[in-house]
Amino acid sequence: MINPDKLHHLGPVSNVALREHHRRPVASAADGLGHTLSAMATDFTEETAADTVIESFAKTPDPRLRELLNSLVRHLHAFVRDTEPTIAEWEQAIEFLTATGQKCDDERQEFILLSDVLGISMLVETINNRTGGATESTVLGPFHVVKSPRRELGDTIDLVGTGTPCVVRGRVLSADGSPLPGAELDVWQANDQGFYDVQQPDVQPRANGRGLFTADADGSFWFRTIVPSYYPIPTDGPIGSLLNATERHPFRPAHIHFIVTAPGHRALTTHIFVAGSPYIESDAVFAVKKSLIKEFISVDDPEQAARYGLTGAFWMADFDIVLEPSGS
Ligand code: BEZ
Ligand code: FE
Repeated sequence: MINPDKLHHLGPVSNVALREHHRRPVASAADGLGHTLSAMATDFTEETAADTVIESFAKTPDPRLRELLNSLVRHLHAFVRDTEPTIAEWEQAIEFLTATGQKCDDERQEFILLSDVLGISMLVETINNRTGGATESTVLGPFHVVKSPRRELGDTIDLVGTGTPCVVRGRVLSADGSPLPGAELDVWQANDQGFYDVQQPDVQPRANGRGLFTADADGSFWFRTIVPSYYPIPTDGPIGSLLNATERHPFRPAHIHFIVTAPGHRALTTHIFVAGSPYIESDAVFAVKKSLIKEFISVDDPEQAARYGLTGAFWMADFDIVLEPSGS
């Protein structure tokens, strides 16, 4: 029971609010063991703790928020009962989460990285993109931080000129196979050393490895680049320590990122992965899907090279992209 005299440290509380509080119905049996909710709330036990906390959220007006909190409390309490952490372990967990938050700034999102290495990002992504026949999605990742510059079809996104030249081409189609002229493709990738431009502002030109392309009248697109390299996710923070402590490597297989949009269609965030890349079977963020692994073929044909404005041998990857009509 709340004593109003003891509430002065909480600031002004209206009598109406207090009367309302006192009028809360006291529920009857709540845990199946004969304990009432009010008895549970005044006598914490391991068995009734989760129900008591869940009951404290019972008046949450937003039903979805209530559902999320109920499930969160249920699962967190089950985890604690299951693992029985010591006080020192719990303090260590709090310190880890605190350090994760402290590592975040405008350019670094360590919590997303935590979600990534636990496979949660991919699970949320996959649940929200249960496509029937459309191109599969995968994680956005933390390096889509600057707007890609608009480029013409056939332009190169490689502003440096080192690395193995490569052409990426394909068509953007709707689920029924019809082309999507004017579809936009935002692409970004790491360089041949495995770094994004934003990770090396003093080494790489701005927007190296990035481009925004518009598909032509039959939905076709093509651009020049270099074969990307595999690379490690950032390891200089708590997530690096977590990987280290668990003897997990931090690497992602070589890939090129895409965000593809077209009017009347759901936007698609995905990658293509280079078949045979190191770490293709052990991506640190679990983002590989079989359908997104593409063969990068070596082409040694001067005629074909000339067609793409290249001289000498190059690599080529084909990637047709199918978007799902929105509302389907
Ligand atoms: C990326 O592909 O850019 C990425 C994705 C998840 C974590 C780190 C990097
Ligand atoms: Fe990436």
